[in-house]
Amino acid sequence: MTEFKPYFTADGSTGLYNSDFNDIYHSATGALTEAYEKFIYPINFEMINKKNEIKILDICYGIGYNSKSFLNYILDKKFLKNYFSDNKTSFATIYTDNIFKNFLKKIHINNNTCNETIYTDNILRKISITAVDNDEKLFFLSPFIKTGQRKISVPKNLPINSKFYNNSKQISKRKINKLINFLIFEKISSEIIQNKGVLSILSNENFKDYFETDLRGYVLNLVKEHCTNPKLSNLHNIYYRYLSKCYKMQLKRTNLDKVYFNYKIDDARSVVRDDKNEYNLIFLDAFSPNKCPCLWSYEFFTELYRILEKDGMLLTYSTSAVVRSAMIEAGFIVGNVYNERLNKFTGTVAVKNSELIKYPLTEFDFGLLKTRAGIFYRDKNLNGQNEAIIELYNLEKKNSIRESSTQYIKNYTHNKDLP
Ligand SMILES: C[S@@+](CC[C@H](N)C(=O)[O-])C[C@H]1O[C@@H](n2cnc3c(N)ncnc32)[C@H](O)[C@@H]1O
Repeated sequence: MTEFKPYFTADGSTGLYNSDFNDIYHSATGALTEAYEKFIYPINFEMINKKNEIKILDICYGIGYNSKSFLNYILDKKFLKNYFSDNKTSFATIYTDNIFKNFLKKIHINNNTCNETIYTDNILRKISITAVDNDEKLFFLSPFIKTGQRKISVPKNLPINSKFYNNSKQISKRKINKLINFLIFEKISSEIIQNKGVLSILSNENFKDYFETDLRGYVLNLVKEHCTNPKLSNLHNIYYRYLSKCYKMQLKRTNLDKVYFNYKIDDARSVVRDDKNEYNLIFLDAFSPNKCPCLWSYEFFTELYRILEKDGMLLTYSTSAVVRSAMIEAGFIVGNVYNERLNKFTGTVAVKNSELIKYPLTEFDFGLLKTRAGIFYRDKNLNGQNEAIIELYNLEKKNSIRESSTQYIKNYTHNKDLP
């Protein structure tokens, strides 16, 4: 099993270091901040708000920051409440209590704005998240990941550039609402308790600060109870009652009980190829193109184009020309993601409806796509090995008569400097 180590990133959220790859999964600047800035802030919520169901595909879910940030954001913004209670669809989906319904009825009849049908649940509004990753261990650990640590020390022995930590003052401390972790935990708890690898990570005392105390304690007690100590069953019952009752009530009150969470532990290419759904939002958070080209190929983007709804948005952190040219070739309209805090473009949004593009590609960006840097990865049958995909790509680049990106940048800056 892959060795990994958790560490606190500069915004107090937990990041993971993978010793097999000698690489980090999350920016040391802040795992949660990164998720917000690259996947949540660029979303056109006006468009999303009009939908009766929001379908999200979270590709490379890992420990779930992108999906969790989405839920956290809308919970913070009281979006859930508005989303589930717009004029058309009814308050009844939130307030089932008759007295309240009658009260509403009166108001609406007096105002002459709506008729009684608004109180029926004929339009179901919901949020469905489909999470995909090929590493089941990360999946099962995802509901335990704690965020919002107050004191952050620079991690030792990790390949992390400590200069990030010098900037940590600018970064606000963020926290994922515990309820969101509980929601995910509820969906996958039975698989977690059967997974020995995950249980051994959870029971490692060195890692306990990184995990939600309640959920970790609950699972470890549950397992202990079944394996060794029958007396713990009382404790388990208390725990279970507390956990389920307290959290479930809160899920209901916040409408998070209308969030559906599905997961697929598999290669994202086969999941997407077999998917017949249409998504409003697709998050693509794969390792960088030169490490994991199979999730950035023209063929993969063609499949993503197929499953994106006409007003949907695909979001990713990559600004690379190799990615953008594959997206455009697959039919997408592509724009920049602007990061206010850093005052620069830090991602890409790919859509079918050009009205959703807030920051179009610049003249420079378009020029870059025509250079060798714009030659994209190919994975004809969506089952190639990364090494083979890279080999083919290098060959195509070598034989290309296109201008090199270095030359292009040189000419571009030179021409710009001319009076
Ligand atoms: C940069 S991490 C994503 C971090 C994640 N979004 C999070 O919030 O923790 C990349 C993820 O891609 C997954 N991955 C790599 N190759 C994959 C593939 N072919 N299909 C699905 N997932 C893959 C890895 O297991 C890893 O979790």
